[in-house]
Amino acid sequence: MTDATTAMNPDDLNPDPYAIPLDQIRMNQSRLFQNNMHGEYFRRLRKEDPVHYCADSDVGPFWSITKFDDIVKIDSNHKQFSSEPAISIGNPSADFTTPMFIAMDPPKHDVQRKAANPGVAPARLADLEGLIRERAGKILDGLPIGEEFNWVDRVSIELTTQMLATLFDFPFEDRHLLTQWSDVTTNVDMFVSEEKIQERRASLRECLAYFTRLWHERANEPPKFDFISLLAHNPDTKDMINNPMELLGNLILLIVGGNDTTRNSISAGIVGLNQNPKEYDKLMADPTLIPNMVSEIIRWQTPLAYMRRTAKEDVEFQGKQIKKGDKVVMWYVSGNRDETKIENADELLIDRARARQHMSFGFGIHRCMGNRVGEMQVRIVWEEILKRFERVEMVSEPVRVNSSFVMGYSEVMVRIIPKDKK
Ligand code: HEM
Repeated sequence: MTDATTAMNPDDLNPDPYAIPLDQIRMNQSRLFQNNMHGEYFRRLRKEDPVHYCADSDVGPFWSITKFDDIVKIDSNHKQFSSEPAISIGNPSADFTTPMFIAMDPPKHDVQRKAANPGVAPARLADLEGLIRERAGKILDGLPIGEEFNWVDRVSIELTTQMLATLFDFPFEDRHLLTQWSDVTTNVDMFVSEEKIQERRASLRECLAYFTRLWHERANEPPKFDFISLLAHNPDTKDMINNPMELLGNLILLIVGGNDTTRNSISAGIVGLNQNPKEYDKLMADPTLIPNMVSEIIRWQTPLAYMRRTAKEDVEFQGKQIKKGDKVVMWYVSGNRDETKIENADELLIDRARARQHMSFGFGIHRCMGNRVGEMQVRIVWEEILKRFERVEMVSEPVRVNSSFVMGYSEVMVRIIPKDKK
């Protein structure tokens, strides 16, 4: 997954979306998201121009689909809206193309998804639950009491990286490499200069070399349920090893798909509950709310802001003429705030009715493959937090990542209040 976003000067940003002519609104400016200004822009688009055409951006023209029901329609219509050649607004560079099944159409998409899917199937998750709980407990028990520290590094990244290492059966002592490969993939700073682009590619080539070794080992061992073994043994995907860029693409998909999203959902819980102390009180009074709260946190945060499609033919959509080849961006982050569909959509309400009916996992044939693993990790971490701590207090404003694709945090500074000592 690449993230072609505009890293514009923050001084250029206008917090008032109405100060800008409608046709000049460009929603792919990463700093709008980093500065948490995107919400008001989307509110205007939903109201005035829900199927909005941006004629001019650094990555060319694109449509923005901003209302819940419209997004469901496009996402469920893979016959007219293709996932190729990319699900990010920018197209892949011609000299470093990494095909992956999230950016493929049937039949190839279906075959590859089916091969990897048992790695996150319900039976496997049931087996993994105890391990995740044990690891979450260890991480939480090792946190400093009475000191300020960054929750993102100490908990969110650590826990999701450990989980990812498990899903790949990746050597545990090298697991930090998974975080590194995930970060170079999504960090917009890795696209700002030729030097950074080359540095990024070198890192991804190391990723490929590492996994190629693992692939050969697994192919010669009896089949197991980790992603590499599954792909290496499946008759439909065993030859992927002969197409190194496609192998790399799918590795990136499985690494980033499982990493940033869950990491940011774990951080978002801390941010959301601290910004809504009444919700934190509700949780402390009734921990059975945790599963519902997990869905609500994932809606409220929307860890992936959008997916892009490309029109395969001319389509008239809500009175607009989408032309063959046009880029169509489905802004989940806006659909999840659609006030005509979700009551009090801006608010985090941990006891919200029908909390699962959000769009953070997408719809249709590409609907998130790992949603249950993601939810399970967030649930377990909160169950373990409540066993140990009275409060995890956020002590300063969170720092958001500079991306219009990944909705996340690089810093959430906290202090822990242990039980009985409030
Ligand atoms: C809270 C956590 C997560 C969120 C919000 C999330 C979100 C998404 C979204 C929005 C899509 C695209 C849906 C569409 O196009 O309709 C997707 C696809 C995908 N996700 Fe997730 N994801 C999460 C966790 C995970 C985890 C833990 C994994 C597994 C390792 C994973 C693996 C994938 C894969 C492989 C796809 C591609 C599916 C396909 O193309 O058929 N995700 N995810």
